[in-house]
Amino acid sequence: MKAECILVIGANGQIGSVLVEYLREIYGLGKVVATDIRMPDYPSGIFEQLDATDARAMADIVRKYSVTQIYHLAAILSAKGEQDPLRTWHINMQTYFNVLEVARENGVGKVFYPSSIAVFGDHVDDIAEQWSYLDPATVYGISKTAGENWSNYYFKRYGLDIRSLRYPGIIGYQSMPGGGTTDYAVDIYHKAVNNEVFECFLKPDTTLPMIYISDAMDATVRLMEAPAEKIRVRTSYNLAGMSFSPEEIAASIRKHLPDFSIQYKPDFRQAIADSWPKEIDDSQARKDWGWRPAYSLDKMTEEMIAELRKKYDLVN
Ligand code: SER
Repeated sequence: MKAECILVIGANGQIGSVLVEYLREIYGLGKVVATDIRMPDYPSGIFEQLDATDARAMADIVRKYSVTQIYHLAAILSAKGEQDPLRTWHINMQTYFNVLEVARENGVGKVFYPSSIAVFGDHVDDIAEQWSYLDPATVYGISKTAGENWSNYYFKRYGLDIRSLRYPGIIGYQSMPGGGTTDYAVDIYHKAVNNEVFECFLKPDTTLPMIYISDAMDATVRLMEAPAEKIRVRTSYNLAGMSFSPEEIAASIRKHLPDFSIQYKPDFRQAIADSWPKEIDDSQARKDWGWRPAYSLDKMTEEMIAELRKKYDLVN
């Protein structure tokens, strides 16, 4: 067990709910303070209700627990964010400014900031390099690009040790995403194990970068535990797991569930997906702190189906 106290903001979300458990296994149950704007139905471990737009409330929690690290996971994602652009900007930026200032003023040692493939836009063709031009098409992407630059600024100006990953679409069985463009790749497994037809909001050949939740957790903690001198990118690291299209994930599912059926009804999210790269070059992360994903599409499919069958009690 390590002498850290970790604050997770947005602990009820798709990433937060899994990350909190992962961090508790590593650091100890009493060393992780989970917070979210909503109380969970069954809180386990330390939980505090927190509206992250309220800087004073955030500072109170940081002082109460002598927090040494903050993982800031609260944000409105790409698709939902387009419904109310200014509110999305406000929530995504205000919460992050609060984290930056509360961390700086209270001597918090490290901050994790999740960025996204949504920072890339039309000036990247198929493969996004670490230093590709960033011209995001969504407010979510604009806010993540700004957040990356503010991270770099706080590191350079104040020495705040902020570390960040550009997550691809994250796929896991434990939790559901909400409001993203890559969400289909989680929903599809739920429909498949329940023998339902899946209606896909993207076209069959829309290839996007994705990552399995176990790899995402491993990358996150590996980055946060790396010696500071290894961290050479202070905006955000490109991170890749795998890339696939709806027709490819459907084919992978059919290896286990041959009757699985998918229909395509593209909606406004198609344009968002089209603005993103198909692949991510993460060689800088591999070189600097030893990143290497463990899951392929088929390996992920096998685990997703097995775990969701257990969840839905479909095991014979
Ligand atoms: N998964 C996110 C989304 O689709 C991308 O970061 O919005």
